[in-house]
Amino acid sequence: GAPVRANVSKLEPGQMIVVEWRGKPVYIVRRTEETLSSLGAMADSLRDPDSAEEKQQPAYAKNEYRSIKPEYLVLLGLCTHLGCAPMYRPDVGAQDLGGSEWLGGFFCPCHGSKFDLAGRVFKGVPAPINLEVPPHSYESDAVILVG
Ligand code: FES
Repeated sequence: GAPVRANVSKLEPGQMIVVEWRGKPVYIVRRTEETLSSLGAMADSLRDPDSAEEKQQPAYAKNEYRSIKPEYLVLLGLCTHLGCAPMYRPDVGAQDLGGSEWLGGFFCPCHGSKFDLAGRVFKGVPAPINLEVPPHSYESDAVILVG
């Protein structure tokens, strides 16, 4: 299939847009400074914080941001458990999802898998691996090419 263009010039910090690529939802989040500075502290709660296990991941996803530019996260919006659509929950309080480590992220309503704001899976949930980063590149500062 053809690559899909996503224009991120109007995306405010904290916002997410969804584009479709090969019939799959792709989540693009512009992360805030607060989010970016919190990602390093998450490692102990995560199953694979450096995406070290994931042979399918592009090389640019193997860092704590899991992205080319730290500000922009690009993920497949499919839970790695059984493929439901995780909900973007950037601001939810720790008490709402039962974990003191929760600083916002993605929550799968089907069986309760939790992912941080880099799509990294928490320990102790059904999803076995981090959300997938699809191949993508920057056509310009404002345009991400997925595929
Ligand atoms: Fe997401 Fe099962 S499909 S937790």
